[in-house]
Amino acid sequence: MPSPRLILGLESSCDDTAAAVVRVTEDGPAEILSNVIAGQTELHAAFGGVVPEIAARAHAEKLDICVKQALTQAEMALSDMNAIAVTAGPGLIGGVVSGVMCAKGLSAATGIPLYGVNHLAGHALTPRLTDGVPYPYLMLLVSGGHCQFLMVQGPDDFIRLGGTMDDAPGEAFDKIARLIGLSQPGGPAIETAALSGDPERFKFPRPLLDRPGCDMSFSGLKTAVLRTRDALIAASGGLTRQDQFDLAASFQVAVVDVLAFKTARAFALYPKGADRTLCVAGGVAANKAIRAALETISNQNEAAFVAPPLALCTDNAAMIAYAAAEQMDVRGPDDMTLSARPRWPLDSTAQPMLGSGKKGAKA
Ligand code: KG4
Ligand code: ZN
Repeated sequence: MPSPRLILGLESSCDDTAAAVVRVTEDGPAEILSNVIAGQTELHAAFGGVVPEIAARAHAEKLDICVKQALTQAEMALSDMNAIAVTAGPGLIGGVVSGVMCAKGLSAATGIPLYGVNHLAGHALTPRLTDGVPYPYLMLLVSGGHCQFLMVQGPDDFIRLGGTMDDAPGEAFDKIARLIGLSQPGGPAIETAALSGDPERFKFPRPLLDRPGCDMSFSGLKTAVLRTRDALIAASGGLTRQDQFDLAASFQVAVVDVLAFKTARAFALYPKGADRTLCVAGGVAANKAIRAALETISNQNEAAFVAPPLALCTDNAAMIAYAAAEQMDVRGPDDMTLSARPRWPLDSTAQPMLGSGKKGAKA
């Protein structure tokens, strides 16, 4: 492979259609030359969640426009690219198929090598794109569809230390926001509401803290919030603004406590060494209270803490392009048999988690 490498990345596994151009050199930091994202929030707003069929259609309509914009902004032609990278899973299958078909078409037309990338690998390698973090590092990947602790040892070498047994935290944030009358996506809405709330007013459970290891569960917490909401409505006929704020704050602090406690457990499972780094990625990593708690746990464990900029924590195509640039050193390109995978665990040796991906695996 030549250096520098120029990679076009495509991402369409959930509700963001994205294309990006990334340049990677042998030495020196990777550069994001363009990073185009067409979100679909308005298309799904009336339904209270992502509707897979609507998402897939919107991806099919937007992908080529995003590719054009990404190349224009990078001041590059498609023929300048050394590879075309695309999310090939896990995710909502219709969207992933749209991306894979688009990338195959571009590759077939130009002869540029095609790389199918695991969306989770894109998130997990982001700290190398943004901060050049050396291998190995500990990663908490926490998003709308996933929550797992990984030892990241190489571009295609991940060991899963533990993860959620049911809901992902982002999914819980979104559901709780719906339950208490806040807008979607629920994460930012709850974070804002929590700023005006009392985190001590409701004592919600911190599930699985008594269990060894770093597996987590969030569905019991969700049920506890639902019961409390119902009790408040039964007692006074509805929720006041302050009730909403206090529910949001009490819920958020429970999630923060669970993630912080289990991160400490993950450190206990992670080999002791001179340079330990905790990295966080995925949409929920945008939450400032969660970031602050993880930084504290890192300090307590004498580890560095790296949280990529918010725009690169949520879904984007730069991370897909970058992951392919790294994976080119350890594997060859895919061919036209590349298929979209709704499920695709990063660590194929780890036991599948109970219920993981039940709601349509996002990442
Ligand atoms: O990684 P991402 O963009 O998409 C996938 O799930 O793949 O993550 C989206 C999730 C949503 O559930 C959203 O509510 C959550 O990340 N999120 C947040 C915040 N911003 C986004 N959760 C908590 N606090 C936030 N500030
Ligand atoms: Zn994601």
